Amino acid sequence: MKRLYGIGTGPGASDLLTIRAVNAIRESQVIFTPNNKGVNMALDTAAEFIGNKRVVLIDFPMGKVTKEDYKKAAEIINNEIEEGETGSFLTIGDSMIYSTFIYIMDELDGKDIEIEIVPGIPSFVAAAAASKLPLTVKGDVFVLCDEYSDVKCNFDSIAILKTFKNKEYLLEKLEKDNIDYTYIKRSSLDNEEVIKDRNKITEDKDYISLILGRKK
Ligand SMILES: C[S@@+](CC[C@H](N)C(=O)[O-])C[C@H]1O[C@@H](n2cnc3c(N)ncnc32)[C@H](O)[C@@H]1O
Repeated sequence: MKRLYGIGTGPGASDLLTIRAVNAIRESQVIFTPNNKGVNMALDTAAEFIGNKRVVLIDFPMGKVTKEDYKKAAEIINNEIEEGETGSFLTIGDSMIYSTFIYIMDELDGKDIEIEIVPGIPSFVAAAAASKLPLTVKGDVFVLCDEYSDVKCNFDSIAILKTFKNKEYLLEKLEKDNIDYTYIKRSSLDNEEVIKDRNKITEDKDYISLILGRKK
């Protein structure tokens, strides 16, 4: 039997990795993570626990990733883990939230590989801590999205991920909808910033950023 852990490495600080994540990494013979043009936050977060274990960076094409790409990734993982061995696939935040691992896990279904998920601290939870903005109080409806224009329901509080593009348009829409917003970048990392200033928010291009909002 082969074994694969889907590990959420949390928002980036290595002391926010869970003990279970560290144990799973230590138990693994091979570590997988998507190849992000040489920059890999999940790998950096866990680096001190990976040591000289074999690391396999999985390439995904720029732009739209297809089912075929996930299938190929699943095959690489299945081939790289030897019978009786354990692998760990690292994702930022939690691996069940807007993560490549979700699609890879689907493609591994039916293969002789046992999968276990190790939860990680999600980015928006770390961002709430950084900004001291409560995500929910009693009775609140909270929405998590990666595209604000897709939100069709009522909410009191919102976390919007992947806010690096079209920020001017996004902020205009939030203002029109009467939502107080705060931009948090690189939460838990040394260069973490909590930004309220509109111009600073629109100028920033960091992918590792999100917006927490609350209806006025
Ligand atoms: C593909 S999603 C991954 C979400 C992740 N699985 C989670 O649980 O948070 C990538 C987005 O997560 C957010 N993100 C991840 N780490 C972050 C951090 N340390 N600070 C702020 N935003 C972060 C950003 O919005 C980024 O564009």
